[in-house]
Amino acid sequence: MRGAARYSPGDPLATGPEAGRGVAMFRAVHIGDLHFWRFTANPALLPGKRLLGLANLALRRSRAFQQGRAGELVARIGDAAPDRILLSGDFTTTSLPSEFSAAKDALAPLEERFAGRIRAVPGNHDRYTRRELRAKSFDRFLGDWCFRGTWPWFDDAGGGLWIAGIDATTSNGLGCFGTFRDETLEALKAWRSGEGADARELWIVCHFPTEDLPGVFHRDRGRELHGGDRLLRFLGELNIPVFYLHGHHHYRWIYRSPTHPNVTYLNAGAPMYRRKGMARADLGFLELLRENGTTAVKVHRLEGEEWKVSDATLPEAGEYFDLQTPGD
Ligand SMILES: [Fe+2]
Ligand SMILES: [Fe+2]
Repeated sequence: MRGAARYSPGDPLATGPEAGRGVAMFRAVHIGDLHFWRFTANPALLPGKRLLGLANLALRRSRAFQQGRAGELVARIGDAAPDRILLSGDFTTTSLPSEFSAAKDALAPLEERFAGRIRAVPGNHDRYTRRELRAKSFDRFLGDWCFRGTWPWFDDAGGGLWIAGIDATTSNGLGCFGTFRDETLEALKAWRSGEGADARELWIVCHFPTEDLPGVFHRDRGRELHGGDRLLRFLGELNIPVFYLHGHHHYRWIYRSPTHPNVTYLNAGAPMYRRKGMARADLGFLELLRENGTTAVKVHRLEGEEWKVSDATLPEAGEYFDLQTPGD
């Protein structure tokens, strides 16, 4: 807990739906890129020149993403009994309605049990084509999980903790990058000067990080969040602890901003992604546990046939830790 200690407000949570626990505690799970995939032969759904590219993408993804393992993942998430389930986008591969439907069906047991406690944002693969821009499949299928139905959404979790969801997808069918828009910054500022004035900790849910891990994806404009510097500056000036929950890069890690040390990034990776040379996916997700004003991070991972949970060390400024399978 080194990283969070200096910001700890020491104020026990006044709990919301989690009040039944009898202790000042708030628990959330963070799920990364699920990338459900389906093949389609319908040219109306995969139009023009993109047909071949998207078909190839779907073929590659079908080999790498073991969507048949969603049931194991969903069961474990349920066992964690979270107060919130936070999904950071890329539910699909090519934004097909059938892919959204597959995601919705796989997560249905959670929707039933945790009604009103699921929060989501889209990833670039959820708004992958110009057709999707018109069809709004993400909103049609998963809109119920976009709290209050406006962007960004703000969720008062109690005790000074707020959770904000940002849609940074470009919706233009081009590239893998995101865009942080002017109106999102204005909305964040309005929140801080209004209902968020007393916020003591903020969890951002956004598919794209504002900073990439050094030496791994450094300043790759094809994949980064364009305009993200402004978001990072805003978060830094809040002067409260910020946990930034993202995905996009299919690797699980925790990283603390070197320039804005109140910001800690959590990448939940891609739980059903089978990495090269591995027999099967490294199934897992992250848990955030806020207790008496301090947040701890845990990693849930299936090792063999057994689920294990371990504490993640919070990094110092500029430091990061690999949370993927050790030795991978
Ligand atoms: Fe992804
Ligand atoms: Fe992505």
